[in-house]
Amino acid sequence: METYDLSQNHIVTPPEEIALSTNQLQVYYGSGSRASMTDASLSFPRFQITALIGASGSGKSTYLRSLNRMNDRIARIEGEIMYRGTNINSPKVNVYEVRKHIGMVFQKPNPFAKSISENITFALKAAGITNRQELNERVETSLKEAALWNEVKDDLNKSALALSGGQQQRLCIARALAMKPDILLLDEPASALDPISTTKLEVTLKELTKNYTIIIVTHNMQQASRISAYTAFFHLGHVIEYDQTEKIFQTPEIQATHDYVTGNFG
Ligand SMILES: Nc1ncnc2c1ncn2[C@@H]1O[C@H](COP(=O)(O)OP(=O)(O)OP(=O)(O)O)[C@@H](O)[C@H]1O
Ligand SMILES: [Mg+2]
Repeated sequence: METYDLSQNHIVTPPEEIALSTNQLQVYYGSGSRASMTDASLSFPRFQITALIGASGSGKSTYLRSLNRMNDRIARIEGEIMYRGTNINSPKVNVYEVRKHIGMVFQKPNPFAKSISENITFALKAAGITNRQELNERVETSLKEAALWNEVKDDLNKSALALSGGQQQRLCIARALAMKPDILLLDEPASALDPISTTKLEVTLKELTKNYTIIIVTHNMQQASRISAYTAFFHLGHVIEYDQTEKIFQTPEIQATHDYVTGNFG
């Protein structure tokens, strides 16, 4: 692999209102002293999609999972994660509360072995919502937001496991939305989906930017350029370049970014 000067970077701060930002985030797995993520300082604009791209092992998931404290048990995370004026990377902050505001959807659809509606109401009930009408409303609203309602409205009591992969992934998005988060983190949500389901998911995500801020890891360059406003390029645990998506794909500032987006990499 070609070696690049990893200290060379180009990181912009979007002029838009910022929903979430990190300041020199460092992630150390286990008892290791070598950071798997170094000095990541990024600001995510509100009501936009930001894509995180980069080769396998470059630290995209490590970074994304740190944002809602999913790495707490397996890694030491230094630096700040600023959300609404609070550093949520502080031991004093309630992780459960963080995840109510910052939801996550994983690469592999992972619905519970329960009915479609129970998949959505499970966490709501755990959060103390017991009113039948409110639960029903949240099921309907979140399924509509995830563009799944029309396909499942007559099957709400059927097992979620009987849905197709694409439907399961939209159910997982609905499940995350039911908690009324502010920010949605998605780690390669379309990698297990066929092209039609992928297109559907992309349209859904675009639609969701009316109400949500989205940060998505993707290996699919076309996907990143189709749906995101900003793109961050990760390389060997460093954020090398962060700018408007069009700029990253057409006229990047850094050689490593250029090589990656044009496919001349590794
Ligand atoms: N649980 C873990 N324990 C120890 N090291 C880890 C763990 N998870 C990831 N790493 C290391 O951190 C680095 C970044 O991995 P990460 O999973 O964040 O990459 P990625 O960009 O998401 O890759 P991919 O595109 O393959 O998903 C790698 O060197 C990886 O081996
Ligand atoms: Mg990953």
